[in-house]
Amino acid sequence: MARSGEQNGGMVYPDEAVLARAGVEDLRAVSQAMLVDMPSAWAEIARTQFEWYEPWHTTLDESNAPFYQWFVGGKTNIVLNALDRHVRSWRRNKAALIWEGENYETRTYTYQQLNREVSRFASVLRAMGVNKGDRVTIYMGRIPEIEIAMLACAKLGAVHSVVYGGFSVEALHGRIEDSQSRIAITADGAWLRGNVVPLKDIMDEALQRAPTIQTVIVVKRTGQDVHMEPGRDLWYHDLMNLPIADAHIETVPVDAEDPLYLLYTSGTTGAPKAILHTHGGYMVGVAATLKWVFDVQDDDTWWCAADPGWVTGHSYIIYGPLLLGATSLMYEGAPNYPFPDRWWDITERHGVTILYTAPTAIRGLMRFGDAWPNRHDLSKLRLLGSVGEPINPEAWRWYHRVIGKDRCPIMDTWWQTETGTFMISPVPATPLKPGSATLPLPGVEVDVLNEEGDPAGLNEEGYLVIKRPWPGMMRTIYGDPERYVNSYWSRFPGVYMTGDSARRDEDGYIWVIGRVDDVIKVSGYRLGTAEIESALVSHRAVAEAAVIGVPDEVRGHVIKAYCILITGVEPTQRLVEELRDHVAHEVGPIAKPATIEFVETLPKTRSGKIMRRVLKARVLGQDEGDTSTLEQ
Ligand code: WT7
Repeated sequence: MARSGEQNGGMVYPDEAVLARAGVEDLRAVSQAMLVDMPSAWAEIARTQFEWYEPWHTTLDESNAPFYQWFVGGKTNIVLNALDRHVRSWRRNKAALIWEGENYETRTYTYQQLNREVSRFASVLRAMGVNKGDRVTIYMGRIPEIEIAMLACAKLGAVHSVVYGGFSVEALHGRIEDSQSRIAITADGAWLRGNVVPLKDIMDEALQRAPTIQTVIVVKRTGQDVHMEPGRDLWYHDLMNLPIADAHIETVPVDAEDPLYLLYTSGTTGAPKAILHTHGGYMVGVAATLKWVFDVQDDDTWWCAADPGWVTGHSYIIYGPLLLGATSLMYEGAPNYPFPDRWWDITERHGVTILYTAPTAIRGLMRFGDAWPNRHDLSKLRLLGSVGEPINPEAWRWYHRVIGKDRCPIMDTWWQTETGTFMISPVPATPLKPGSATLPLPGVEVDVLNEEGDPAGLNEEGYLVIKRPWPGMMRTIYGDPERYVNSYWSRFPGVYMTGDSARRDEDGYIWVIGRVDDVIKVSGYRLGTAEIESALVSHRAVAEAAVIGVPDEVRGHVIKAYCILITGVEPTQRLVEELRDHVAHEVGPIAKPATIEFVETLPKTRSGKIMRRVLKARVLGQDEGDTSTLEQ
């Protein structure tokens, strides 16, 4: 056994203190059980660690693959396990959510208090006619009410569709329209770097394009004047003060396979896809993986610094921690506001024990130097986490040394909106290699395949695939089951195609390289070329557009756009700015191209498809590859 924190041949071994605490033996047993009989091992976890109104009859139904079903016939509700059972136990007075606003306002909700708010809001929604299966769009910043709203929907068996608060008019409109929500929940604004993001104004503009919404519920957060449309818009606080806001309503039993939420994410082509997750399998998968990877215990203060509007927030700010009865911290604002030590200040003041964030944030904070974290007591930290994109070894080492003081292992978790839960990740006892997500979790069978669908050789780059179903997996693309089959299950029949390329080394460690499709990761946020390109061509000056991701030191990738202008339009610098702002207005500030180049033509195949790969190769000064299909 290696000594504490020893680095050996690139491997970083866990500290003895970490090993002494983590449930190492338990994991060995569950890994073994998964190898013997994967569905039975999951059934054991589902039966012993969760409450069900009625037991299931079939753990895994593969008869209609790839439409896998888990815990078929079982009745539960994720809220039964995330709140109700804790309120019946000693945990009722334990903090479920600690929230800090960017303006230093703080709020703590115990399990009991959170449960009361959720129940009150669920009864308001019920009084408005929200029922099982109805979609509700939620568009808010990082405030407790986003969590209350999501849980209130789940409690009723309604399906939440959260749209990230950094998205803008057209992105919001498209998602409302696709989900056919009748109710939207938003806030007057959100605080970011001391400024107000005008969420309600953006909602108003989106609703001029989306007629399905009949009611908008507005949380007061920033307090600036907003337009309230008579007969449509209602204040959250007014509704919560009505006598119908009952703090003790029953959770609605749902089928394990009933939908819990939709979350839109980008793919190769076309509009964003509505990834659908269900109550039963997702609940079991999220809680189990959080426990395995971060070993969250009752004395922990868990901080997942993501946004609730992305899957990381759904699974690991909200559902996972609540299912484990843990204390989860949510911070509203920017990491460097008002100073570059805001995160370290929060970590110290709230005694954070586990911090989970993204490489882009680490690189961003690393730029400010060691002095900012060094002025804070970070000694309560015992584990660190990373997600969203491959973490470069330099950022890994800084995070490990300066934040984790060489004591805290870094859990580099690979997963996706579609997988719902961690898939490839170390657990605290795993020897680490900086930059590798290490090994698949128990029950997860991954492979790296070459073009022919055969296993790639050692260290050979190939397609990362998953070969067996898992409980937290997406069930379909809402409203488009065919696209679900085509996007994920057709390239290699019978196996799930992740869209990533990877290689596997001599120790079986997986090194994720990046996307093989037209998905761009900007600061860890997933964006599709199609959405940005259609925003560009919706501008009167643009005839055609293509966007690519180009490497950036802090943000991973930034967007470069190529535009062909309408005949007669002058290619001015002012137009560049106008187009950048237009994309920010339509899709969101994260989608804003860093650079825009005006061109006369775009490389296309003979069938007219833009060859973004060629554009990328040109920017990187690489070989353009096979261009034999290029239109001449
Ligand atoms: C894509 C999924 C799942 C939470 C946030 C992202 C990339 C994610 C890692 C990692 C290398 C990673 C992949 C993946 N990715 N985690 N630890 N190492 N790459 O969810 O927005 O659905 O994006 O993020 O490319 O396919 P998402």
